Amino acid sequence: MINVSVVGATGAVGKELLLLLEKSTLRINKLQLFASEKSVGKYIYFKQKPVRITSLCSTSFEKDDIVFFCSSSKVSTEFVPIALRKKALVIDLSSAFRQKENIPLIVPEVNWKNALGQKLIASPNCIATIISLPLSLLHQKYTIKRVIASTYQASSGGGNKLLSRLLEDTRAHLEEKIQEDSIAFNAYLHNSAHDADGYSEEEKKIIFEVKKILDAPAIQISVTSVRVPVLRAHSIALNIELEKSFSLAQIQKDLKCISGLKERSNLTQAEFATSQTASQKNDVFYSRLRKDTSKDNCLEMWVVGDQLLKGAALNAVQIAEKKIEKKDY
Ligand SMILES: NC(=O)c1ccc[n+]([C@@H]2O[C@H](COP(=O)([O-])OP(=O)(O)OC[C@H]3O[C@@H](n4cnc5c(N)ncnc54)[C@H](OP(=O)(O)O)[C@@H]3O)[C@@H](O)[C@H]2O)c1
Repeated sequence: MINVSVVGATGAVGKELLLLLEKSTLRINKLQLFASEKSVGKYIYFKQKPVRITSLCSTSFEKDDIVFFCSSSKVSTEFVPIALRKKALVIDLSSAFRQKENIPLIVPEVNWKNALGQKLIASPNCIATIISLPLSLLHQKYTIKRVIASTYQASSGGGNKLLSRLLEDTRAHLEEKIQEDSIAFNAYLHNSAHDADGYSEEEKKIIFEVKKILDAPAIQISVTSVRVPVLRAHSIALNIELEKSFSLAQIQKDLKCISGLKERSNLTQAEFATSQTASQKNDVFYSRLRKDTSKDNCLEMWVVGDQLLKGAALNAVQIAEKKIEKKDY
């Protein structure tokens, strides 16, 4: 039996994480839930029992075996060191530690060996996690030269706040209260800060993190991140240039080996994966595998995954389950 804490238990990711923990193989003895001051004193039901939300302090995480951080990077930066001092295994879903050289950035299906013996594990950016499933295999077998990723990201990727805003703006739009900055029925560039080179923080995170997960610094990657008025599940159009020639039939066969990645296509009936297909599903789906007719050795594919699940909470729970199973915590 293990003791577990979840920081950010009321958030878009935290709520999914708790649902997954209820069904997980982890045998939880004590569960502690943390959130901001505004949620302190509220209760969340876990396995039909109410658990009171409390606030973080220097004495939190006493006797914890695992702490999941699903809050801001600021909260992780301050409180992860405290959890580590208390000897807990920490799985951090924020971006606070992802770019640190000695901290593993883990997608279990891709680079599990890097998690062995580690007490702090970073779970990657949602797009990076989702696309690293097909990219890792393609890189192993055909050596990727370049990837161009165009993302279509759901509002829940921006947490509870952006999700509520999409619903409010949609309601306002339908009532003909048109606002200039409405995100309803609107595609817009990812709302993270933009650097002098024109790339957004989100795009830079994806580029850095995919290279780190694949341990492939030489791959050239360019990303354009766009938010679309979708509640959950991110979609990504990938154009992948490979060094070796390939056949689509062989790639289809290769991709079948990746657990958690499923093909969803029927080109004759124009059936392919959508945000609805992937919403609330653990699997990541791909469709529209085709050769880019404008360039040799280039592959096009469409990938969709629920970013709250495989892109965040599920990835974190899978890491925890594997660490506990191997008694590596
Ligand atoms: N959303 C995604 O698809 C996604 C995917 C991958 C990774 N992530 C990462 O996961 C993290 C959580 O994202 P989210 O989308 O779940 O955000 P969110 O919906 O905004 O939730 C944030 C959570 O942090 C809590 N919190 C805020 N200040 C706190 C404090 N001082 N102490 C303790 N808890 C505090 C909030 O509590 P209150 O409810 O009380 O404010 C809430 O539970 C972020 O770092 C994000 O980058 C998100």
